[in-house]
Amino acid sequence: RGGLTAVLELGVLVSGSGTNLQAILDAVAGGELDARVRIVVSNKPGVLALERAERAGVPSLVIRHQDFGTREDFDHELVSALQGAGARLVVLAGFMRVLTPGFLRAFPGRVVNIHPSLLPSFPGVRAQAQALAHGVKVTGCTVHFVDEGVDTGPIIAQRAVPVLDADTATTLTTRILEQEHSLLVEALRRLAARQEPG
Ligand code: GAR
Repeated sequence: RGGLTAVLELGVLVSGSGTNLQAILDAVAGGELDARVRIVVSNKPGVLALERAERAGVPSLVIRHQDFGTREDFDHELVSALQGAGARLVVLAGFMRVLTPGFLRAFPGRVVNIHPSLLPSFPGVRAQAQALAHGVKVTGCTVHFVDEGVDTGPIIAQRAVPVLDADTATTLTTRILEQEHSLLVEALRRLAARQEPG
């Protein structure tokens, strides 16, 4: 869509490889998702996600959490950047920081996260390794609204992924990640369908 406004004006927060960001960029470019990525913000410099943004012609910014004395100050800077860029829905796509209540108040009901487990199982970091350690035979991925807890907000979409006997954290992570990409786009399409343009 080449229009002045897309249904979803997105700000995407990243910390790493950005394959979920790429899925969004590809879906937008392919006309499958009525959205525009207004800005990509990384808390880490030099990550592949920033290259993906640049390649897609999307503005990007590094805001290093270490440069701020408190979480509130860091989040305040994130909010300024996102609002300044015109983002109205924030997507946490492999963003490995927990947001403060102040951030969430700036985007009420408008922050979504993708997590590599079937929540409420295995919240927090290294969800795939947690699943292996627990010996579950099925895990998966979840897209949910972010609330003040860690990976606890209302669930938008989930997909199951089998755990195989031979799995390592690496092979399981890869199998889940493949499903994350389409699940995230599907969840965003659902949010776009709920919303009036502009
Ligand atoms: C994804 O597996 C995502 O679910 C996970 O980080 C990876 C980022 O990959 N997020 C979390 O674990 C959040 N707690 P990507 O940078 O290639 O999109």
